[in-house]
Amino acid sequence: PKNVGILAMEIYFPPTCLQQEVLEAHDGASKGKYTIGLGQDCMGFCTEVEDVISMSLTAVNSLLEKYSVDPKQIGRLEVGSETVIDKSKSIKTFLMQIFEKHGNTDIEGVDSTNACYGGTAALFNCVNWVESASWDGRYGLVVCTDSAVYAEGPARPTGGAAAVAMLVGPDAPIVFESKIRASHMSHVYDFYKPILDSEYPVVDGKLSQTCYLMALDACYKSLCNKYEKLEGKQFSMTDAAYFVFHSPYNKLVQKSFSRLLFNDFLRNASSIDESAKKILAPFESLTGDESYQSRDLEKTSQQLAKPLYDEKVQPTTLIPKQVGNMYTASLYAAFASLLHNKHNTLAGQRVIMFSYGSGLTATMFSLKFNEGQHPFSLSNIASVMNVAEKLESRHEFTPEKFIEILKLMEHRYGAKDFLTSKDCSLLAPGTYYLTEVDSKYRRFYAKK
Ligand code: ACO
Repeated sequence: PKNVGILAMEIYFPPTCLQQEVLEAHDGASKGKYTIGLGQDCMGFCTEVEDVISMSLTAVNSLLEKYSVDPKQIGRLEVGSETVIDKSKSIKTFLMQIFEKHGNTDIEGVDSTNACYGGTAALFNCVNWVESASWDGRYGLVVCTDSAVYAEGPARPTGGAAAVAMLVGPDAPIVFESKIRASHMSHVYDFYKPILDSEYPVVDGKLSQTCYLMALDACYKSLCNKYEKLEGKQFSMTDAAYFVFHSPYNKLVQKSFSRLLFNDFLRNASSIDESAKKILAPFESLTGDESYQSRDLEKTSQQLAKPLYDEKVQPTTLIPKQVGNMYTASLYAAFASLLHNKHNTLAGQRVIMFSYGSGLTATMFSLKFNEGQHPFSLSNIASVMNVAEKLESRHEFTPEKFIEILKLMEHRYGAKDFLTSKDCSLLAPGTYYLTEVDSKYRRFYAKK
């Protein structure tokens, strides 16, 4: 098979959200801390009728319907998630409800978990399967689904929730450049979930920021080396039209992009002009460690990168700024933002993706676009995802109500024998929702 990649996409995020400006005031944080300091506008969250299973059911069902894909045509289904509902039974098995109805139980794949990286692992599994001798000619389907919630404190405004579904196969409009890919993996305790009766992670915020940037540097260096061996010329920021980052919060994305600029400077790449070289010269002799600590370098490189950031990154930031950290879905929601904003002009372009999962696992990889053919065309993907309308039709909650919901969810996490309110009045038609968890912890969902 040729041009293996992403044929179709759908994104779902809850219709319930909270303005960061309002949360900031409620939390007594200084004005601008969440909106400018973290760079976030709004945060989506699940109410008691939604969870990672209902969101993934909604995204998968909607993708199959809107692109008219016969459920029998799916041969592999992979889920990436770090939201643990069951320590054994995969989310994938819940999604089988959709396929069993159509007589298709011949579907490989289970769940992949490592913080925000599981979705990328799932995507690679599907692409590798299509490219392998085991491929049976059918499509792969990848689902990234997460609900990011944090205990009270500075991490709470970096929550979010969403599910992204992606159809994988040959002759795709979004093609993997499989040779241009580099990983960095290491054992670190920056963000983890050792408390099995709580949904909240244990997080060392500062360490996780530094780990993210170190992983970014390592992946970028290695990707540049591989590209140079392959193509016989240097790689720099100018060789990709867009850079898409895993987005815990927008400020980290800004810092990441300026870090790439600093890397290009250190590599003496053609993307850095003479005046930029002069400005960055004082930072040339910093050790790696010093460079992560230097506020001066951070501010200087961010200023220098600003025009390029506006061109190459800003179009990818819409959904992550509006919905928050969607963990495994975050990178792909950023990618969906790019398709939403630029689908008309993407053909022929390259985008570099950076996936990061704490603990830590990271991969930088390259995708290339072509128009594609209906229904698997860039413009149809943008119109199916319908991002603007989904964002506009959300309902804003107060911080008090949000906190009340989180309290209820703390009790419900791992609990049995309860009915939800079944209140689906805010959900769009076609949305799945949780109705009951019975005395044997079995979960039941309905579709609006
Ligand atoms: N106006 C403008 N900016 C402000 C204001 C203000 N009034 N007040 C603070 N800021 C800025 C700070 O200067 C800082 O920006 P800078 O880094 O550019 O200097 C930013 O707001 C954040 O403030 P801090 O005090 O540095 O950090 P805080 O204690 O609020 O914690 C953190 C932020 C660490 C991101 C926390 O939210 C967290 O732990 N989140 C979860 C971990 C995470 O997302 N890690 C990322 C990778 S791993 C993953 O994806 C889960």
